[in-house]
Amino acid sequence: MRLNEQERRTLNGEYGEANRLCLQIEVELGEAYGVERLIPITGAHIDANSYGRVSGEAKLAFAQKIVHAGGKVSVPTTLNPGGRDISRWRKFRIPEEFAAKCELMENAYLKMGAIPTWTCTPYTYGTIPCRGEQIAYAESNAISFANSVLGARTPRYGDFLEVCAAITGRAPYFDLHRDENRFADLWFHVEDPRPYSFSEDLFYSLLGYHIGGICGGQIPVVTGIPAGVNRDSLKNFSAAVASSGGVGLFHIVGVTPEAPDLESVTTGEVREDRNVVTGRQLLGAEEELTGCSPDDIDLVLLGCPHASVREFQMVLAGLAEKKVADGVEFWIQTNRGVYSWIEEMGILDEIKGAGVKVSTDSCLFNWPLDNWEFERAVTNSAKFAHYAPNELDLATAIRDIDRCVRAAVTGEIEGSGLE
Ligand code: F3S
Repeated sequence: MRLNEQERRTLNGEYGEANRLCLQIEVELGEAYGVERLIPITGAHIDANSYGRVSGEAKLAFAQKIVHAGGKVSVPTTLNPGGRDISRWRKFRIPEEFAAKCELMENAYLKMGAIPTWTCTPYTYGTIPCRGEQIAYAESNAISFANSVLGARTPRYGDFLEVCAAITGRAPYFDLHRDENRFADLWFHVEDPRPYSFSEDLFYSLLGYHIGGICGGQIPVVTGIPAGVNRDSLKNFSAAVASSGGVGLFHIVGVTPEAPDLESVTTGEVREDRNVVTGRQLLGAEEELTGCSPDDIDLVLLGCPHASVREFQMVLAGLAEKKVADGVEFWIQTNRGVYSWIEEMGILDEIKGAGVKVSTDSCLFNWPLDNWEFERAVTNSAKFAHYAPNELDLATAIRDIDRCVRAAVTGEIEGSGLE
């Protein structure tokens, strides 16, 4: 790899041990991928800050090593959800010992100078990258959203390369950082969304899930979607396409910024092979994400990725002064920005009064759920429904927000899209 003067001095330890170590990791990894040089980045989003049930100790050891070596982030750096709601963790029955480990992790990243966003939707809160900005993001939905909807540039960084990039302010120039790697590999055309509609958030979750399952790690371009898709739908699409597949970038013609038309994001070869999508195929995705039959549930989970103000407004409208049923927990995950806005708007008090619990700073997948006895959950999230059966041992069903709210009120799941 070709290094400039400053990078060579960094590797010689002239800018401290943390910078040396992080740059060395980046150079060695970059060389393994045949990368020729590093580039400056303007922002980072870290996922390695989550103290979780599975890899918490390794992540904590790495963070503490960087802090001990004097590491400070050199670009604006946001943080993914951690392992606990920092102020309400007792209410969610997080064990003391686990909460104490989370606190150590939080403190480590604060010492590094990262911004305490604790959210997987940094693109709505924190620092929002612009089109063309070179960034280093971890967290699959944020990567997909930043590349596709914002037009920023980041490969699918994973722990701990994004931390190294945040510290050094440099990243290997490869993958989605480069223009030539941002063309679509597969073309999908939505011919008829029915029984769903283009204005439904759930349609985009199912479409993303369907397309991600076919794409794997390739880049899709989608046509047939009318302009004016809202941010929550694009958020849901980003999370879904990056869950069933490893999609870090997608294009929707007329919607996402790099795709004003099909020609801008395709070569001739891709334009000759059109995959037609209809709503009936998406019913298959809905069925795949629904492992439990319309029956009793004990958890309703919204906010994966973290919920927006609009989604809280939809919940409030759906509740219409009704209460969450006995024996059902209704949880919504969000970030502190949205939390403070809905608090000031009076929405928070109303939905809490109905029995809804709202958490910030965290993600259920990081929590130990041993103090709960959940078996069956309903969610609006394709990502949650995809991972929860294996990772949380939960039978799940996916429904739109209205049906999730009705499930919370009645304790029962209604039928699927075609019923
Ligand atoms: Fe966010 Fe956790 Fe879902 S990080 S996208 S709430 S799995």
